[in-house]
Amino acid sequence: MTIKQILRIGDPRLNTVAEPISDFDSSALHQLIEDMRDTMADANGAGLAAPQIGISKRLVIFAMQDNPRYPNVDPVPETILINPIIEEIGSQKLGMWEGCLSVPGMRGYVERCANIRYRGFDQFGSDVDRTVDGFHAVVVQHECDHLDGILYPSRITDYSRFGFEAELEARQDYPQS
Ligand code: NI
Repeated sequence: MTIKQILRIGDPRLNTVAEPISDFDSSALHQLIEDMRDTMADANGAGLAAPQIGISKRLVIFAMQDNPRYPNVDPVPETILINPIIEEIGSQKLGMWEGCLSVPGMRGYVERCANIRYRGFDQFGSDVDRTVDGFHAVVVQHECDHLDGILYPSRITDYSRFGFEAELEARQDYPQS
């Protein structure tokens, strides 16, 4: 069990475009994924991108089941996604109060594409190809943004809907858990 330190916003490594992975099914890759899994679970994260633990590789993991940080959202199967490509489907948007383990204690309202197809590879080099919507679509877009050095605060269009969770809890337009 290895819990890695999660980089926080302000660390320039979070603003770097990550490198594609070419070596699949290697012991180094399996170890990295184990570390990410442990680190994400320890922090109750819905997803984690390799750059968040200082590894500049195009690898994200995500999973959602009974997560106290995100009550009342549909479950998402645990997925390891390498070298992802996202294709937006249609123009429908979905707004959510997003959080990020690299921006602890804060949430911001972000609108993203509601329907996407994503493709990539798992840790063995097998194809991943899914068409999804809802929270699943949001978490994939959020995590893949990390691979391009983008954190969710730069996706916020209305900065009155960004702040610390403790302050947001008092608001009418913030989901009460
Ligand atoms: Ni994040």
